[in-house]
Amino acid sequence: MIKKNCAVFISGRGSNLEKLIKESKNENFPIQIELIISDNINAKGLEFSEIYNIDSYSIDYSSFKNKSEFEQKLLKELKNKNIELICLAGFMRILSSDFIKSFTGPILNIHPSLLPKYKGLNTHQKALDNNDKIAGCTVHFVSEELDSGEIILQKSLDIDENETAETLMNRVLKLEHQAYPEAIKQIFS
Ligand code: GAR
Repeated sequence: MIKKNCAVFISGRGSNLEKLIKESKNENFPIQIELIISDNINAKGLEFSEIYNIDSYSIDYSSFKNKSEFEQKLLKELKNKNIELICLAGFMRILSSDFIKSFTGPILNIHPSLLPKYKGLNTHQKALDNNDKIAGCTVHFVSEELDSGEIILQKSLDIDENETAETLMNRVLKLEHQAYPEAIKQIFS
C-alpha cells in the first residue's frame, strides 16, 4: 500500500498523535506520519518525535509579524516534506481560510463533542451544564468556519450520573483514540 504522507499538528499532550503514530506502524494503515508540528515549543507531545523518530517542527507564533507569515512558514515546511494530509490533534490555533485553500490535501480535525453541538472550548462542561444524556467526539474535515466542516465519523457514550467534566474528558478521550484511526481508514479505503 502506498501510504499518504501526513503531518500531525499539536499544541499539548499529544495522546491522539501517539495513537496515530502507533496505528501507522501497521502496514495496512493508509498514512505515515512524516512530521509533527507544534505551535507550542513546550508541548508534551513533542516527546513523541524522539521516541518514535519522527521529524518535528516547533513554531513560535509570537516570533512572526502576523498570522500570514506564520502560516507561510508552515506551508513551506509541509511542502518540503511532501505532506499530503494534515491531522489536527489538539491543535489550539485557528487556521486561516488562506491556509486552508493553499494546502491542497485534506485537513482533518478531532473535536471532543458531538458536533454541531459545542464548538470551541469547554465542551464537556457544556454538555453537563445542559444535562445532556450522551457525549462524544467528532472527526471532521476542516473548513473555513470553526468546527464546522463535513463530519466523517462520530462516537458517543452515555453520560454517567456522577459524571464530572474531568471524568467525561477522560472517557471521551478513549473514544477519540478509536475514532481518529477509524475515520482515516474510512476516508482512504
Ligand atoms: C483532545 O481532546 C482533542 O479532541 C481536543 O484537544 C484534546 C487534545 O488531546 N481538541 C480540541 O479541543 C480542538 N478544538 P491530546 O493532545 O492528548 O490528543
